[in-house]
Parts: sequence; C-alpha cells; structure tokens
Amino acid sequence: MNYRHAYHAGNFADVVKHAVLARLVEYLKQKDKAFRVIDTHAGIGRYNLASVEAGKTGEWQTGIGRLVESALEPQAAALLQPYLEAVRARNPDGGLKYYPGSPLIVRHLLRNQDRLTAIELHPEDAARLKSVFAGDFQTRVIELDGWLALGAQLPPKEKRGLVLIDPPFEEEGEFSRLVEGLQKAHRRWPGGIYALWYPIKDRKAVTAFRTALTETGIPKLLDIAFEIRPASNEPSLDGSGLVVVNPPYTLESELRLMLPVLHKALALRQPSRWSLDWLAGE
Ligand SMILES: C[S@@+](CC[C@H](N)C(=O)[O-])C[C@H]1O[C@@H](n2cnc3c(N)ncnc32)[C@H](O)[C@@H]1O
Repeated sequence: MNYRHAYHAGNFADVVKHAVLARLVEYLKQKDKAFRVIDTHAGIGRYNLASVEAGKTGEWQTGIGRLVESALEPQAAALLQPYLEAVRARNPDGGLKYYPGSPLIVRHLLRNQDRLTAIELHPEDAARLKSVFAGDFQTRVIELDGWLALGAQLPPKEKRGLVLIDPPFEEEGEFSRLVEGLQKAHRRWPGGIYALWYPIKDRKAVTAFRTALTETGIPKLLDIAFEIRPASNEPSLDGSGLVVVNPPYTLESELRLMLPVLHKALALRQPSRWSLDWLAGE
C-alpha cells in the first residue's frame, strides 16, 4: 500500500467526487429519518495543502484552487454550496490551507441523528483519521480492509444511506474488485445508494468496467465521466468517473447544471468532455 492521497487531495477528481457526494448527502437529509454513510477507503480526512506532498504535485491548484476562484452561475453555485461550505469550514481564517477529505465533508453535512463509518486499511492513515474524529460519537473509524466492510458492515441498522467506494487504483485488478464488491454489497443491501470512483486513464479498461457493470444486471446505474483533457499518449489521469447506484431522482438534473460549470472551471485542455449515461435503467 504505497498510495498516499496527500499528493492528490483537492485535485479535479476530488472536486467532482466530493461535489457529487455532497449532493447525495443533501438528498438523504430531505427526510428526518436517520441515515448512515459508509466510506470504505476513507484516507486521512484532513489534508494540509502546504505540505511537501501537496507541493510536489500542485494538483490542488488546478482543482479546488481553481474552483474557489471561479465565478459560478447562481444555480450551480447553490448546488455546490454544501460542498464549498465544508471546504470553508476547514479554513476559518479564509484562504485555502486545508482540504477536507470525503469523511470530513460528509461529517460536516450530517445532522445529529445521522452516522458515519469511515474505513481505512493503512495503519498510519487510520490512526490519523481516528485522531481527526476523536470524541465524535457520530463517527466510527475502523482500521479494516474496505472490501471486507462491504460484507460485514452492510446493511447498516439505519437501512438508509450511502456507501462511497473510493479505492486507490494502485494495484492490478481494482476495476474487477469494484464490480465484485458492488455485487456483494448489492446482494446484502439492494436499497442502498452506492458511489464508485474510477480513474479515466486506460480507456479500454474503463469501457470493460462499464460493460461488466451493465452485465451484473444491477438496475439504476448512472455513470458520470469527467475529462479534463484529451487522451494522453502516456498513461495519466485524463479524467475520472463516478458510478452512482440507486441515484436519487433529483441527481441527474442537478448534475446537468453542475457538471458544465465544474468543467468550465477545471478542464485543462480541449477537446475534453463530461458525460452522464445510464449504464442500466430501472
Ligand atoms: C483515494 S484514497 C481515499 C480518498 C478519500 N475517499 C477522499 O475522497 O478523501 C484511497 C485510500 O484507501 C486506502 N486503502 C488502500 N487499500 C485499502 C483497502 N483495501 N481498504 C481500505 N482502505 C484502503 C489508502 O490508504 C487511501 O487512503
């Protein structure tokens, strides 16, 4: 496990993932009934954008750095507000010194009745995450293999909620593990919302992943693809995707307002595109 999210925190892929994540949490809040968010690959929670790691890649500057400098159209600004509020909450003195990872973004948005389970396998990262949430009775941090959690932690007792599956893609076979993980999880909890992150780097692998998801027979799969530049000659992160299973009925129309605005702010080189496709309907 060499992957360290500190090099990438706040990049374009984090921005898109976290903006969608915040919309999913906001949807769950429309009913009073409690829900749980399970983050199977949670990271360290809080990222210092002045760290050596963040400075080495500078990726956040073309991600959250650009977004906060962009003039946003009002409808998209309203949809992005919960996410941007979560970022601002980590930077109470203004500016952008810290970036919240997925567990802190979710936690910022939870109500008193809601719960978060954050899972992280790397012992050092899990320890840091535990210290971020020390004393927080609404959040449980578990040092565990996130793929196992898709069995052991599902369904949650609240029977409402969301599972974020955001693996590092540092090892071969991660696309297959995502498909198998979703199948296992969906068998245990067909009614949950799932968000599966994937890189757009190897286009053939992405096409095969989408086909494999369709072939699972799992209904209601909405695929969000967000590319910041045309395909590179050498493998590099040209875009990222998120497959949302059981998306809220409001999500597609929200994304049609949000994604063009994010794309305008974050695209690095044209031609590049974003798209929304149903890999499986009802
Ligand atoms: C892409 S990062 C997570 C970023 C985080 N979800 C966010 O959006 O802020 C992936 C994380 O998964 C952790 N990890 C790697 N393999 C894992 C596994 N099998 N189970 C749980 N966590 C794992 C890595 O240590 C890393 O912190």
